[in-house]
Amino acid sequence: MAEPLNIALAGLGTVGSGVVRLIETNADLIARRARRPIRIAAVSARDRGKDRGVDLSPYLWLDDPAESATRPEIDVVVEMVGGSDGPALTLARKSIASGKSFVTANKAMIAHHGLELAAAAEAAGVALKFEAAVAGGIPVIKGLSEGAAANAIKRVYGILNGTCNYILSTMEDTGRDFADVLADAQRLGYAEADPTFDVEGIDAAHKLAILAGIAFGTRLRFDAVETSGITGVLAADISQARALGYVIRLIGTAEIDHGPVGGGEERGLFQRVRPHLVPCDHPLASVDGATNAVVAEGNFMGRLLFQGAGAGDGPTASAVVADLIDIARGEKGAAFSMPSAELEALEPANSGHRMGRAYLRFIVPDRPGVLAEITAAMRDAGVSIESFIQKGRGEAGGEVIVALVTHEGPEAAVSEALRILEGTDSVARPPLVMQIIGA
Ligand code: NAP
Ligand code: HSE
Repeated sequence: MAEPLNIALAGLGTVGSGVVRLIETNADLIARRARRPIRIAAVSARDRGKDRGVDLSPYLWLDDPAESATRPEIDVVVEMVGGSDGPALTLARKSIASGKSFVTANKAMIAHHGLELAAAAEAAGVALKFEAAVAGGIPVIKGLSEGAAANAIKRVYGILNGTCNYILSTMEDTGRDFADVLADAQRLGYAEADPTFDVEGIDAAHKLAILAGIAFGTRLRFDAVETSGITGVLAADISQARALGYVIRLIGTAEIDHGPVGGGEERGLFQRVRPHLVPCDHPLASVDGATNAVVAEGNFMGRLLFQGAGAGDGPTASAVVADLIDIARGEKGAAFSMPSAELEALEPANSGHRMGRAYLRFIVPDRPGVLAEITAAMRDAGVSIESFIQKGRGEAGGEVIVALVTHEGPEAAVSEALRILEGTDSVARPPLVMQIIGA
């Protein structure tokens, strides 16, 4: 058998220790598939003494992960530290500049610096791979950049954050409290080191920006993802949605937008992460727990659905090692499916002309006239109301929850209604807006 591929692992947390376990458990099978063994030549993390549930004594310990970038025996550096900048980015730049291929699970770094790193990898003639960065164990990057490579992809959307999906579906099934379920997701290794990245939608936005770049052949625009998370979703929204025949899911959507029909506007890149109402009979409604699902629509292949575990040690390690097997086989590929100079620069699309139905929820003072003010704002903005729900009555002088579902209409009209209501004493706190996905 050929010489082993020598790898250095930086980061030995959930993902890093999963990679050690996987490489040890499936060593023979991997060697046959890769046509050479994959050998862990060095490992590094912050705390050498920490019990990680794996025996690290056979491996060289490096106190500084950056050392792996310059050691001559290392072929590939695998970064599983995290963070868009800091030690992860230093390691990436140094490794590539030293002629080492680089594998990472770090979507934050790729979303912010992927174009720079891809160009550097092309110049150095090395591979830059990040299958584990998007949708955990699902081979969606390979699926889009290889299996779907012949298609013009017009839309890609789905459930991209395991932690949020775990929280929403567990709250829905058990009625448990948000903070309590988030603590479970952290214990299970799904959440980011800073879980605000998960619950504020930022992690899903990182992944969406990467997916959009690959799907459409466009330059990454993480800065242009409209992002909102699930912290504003109340248990009352979940039960209200269920009563209306929907579940709530955090959905990321990216598409090439051609502007209003007949408007003659330039093409733009639409990217949004937001909680949505999903009809109970829609395929995304049954995606529970830390599972992710990605739908891609191509002009010849039609609709593809990728689904599987979106977070956790085993699935993420599986994606990392798949990249290593490609490199061991000599398959470098292009990080974003084409040379980085070929990626098209698209400006963000204006979303106002987008049509759809929406769920709007307000927390309002329990006093006469409030409902009339909300409906007047809708009327004045041209928003047509399909149903209007007031949930019970609060304490005297307290607040009540009011929700409404709109008929199909332009998003700009809903934004205008909210603008009219902004700052009025009818709306005590910022409203929650969720688009409703078509069946
Ligand atoms: P984690 O459990 O927090 O592990 C991070 C590792 O990096 C730890 O071993 C830590 O060392 C090490 N580290 C942190 N700062 C360091 C520094 N300055 N120098 C050296 N080592 C340092 O994180 P994780 O969940 O494995 O995630 C790692 C990466 O994978 C992140 O980019 C994350 O977004 C991505 N990812 C995670 C998942 C998932 O399901 N968890 C899935 C897909 C992608 P100590 O252990 O000694 O503290
Ligand atoms: N924190 C991420 C999630 C890990 O929950 O989806 C997988 O990328």
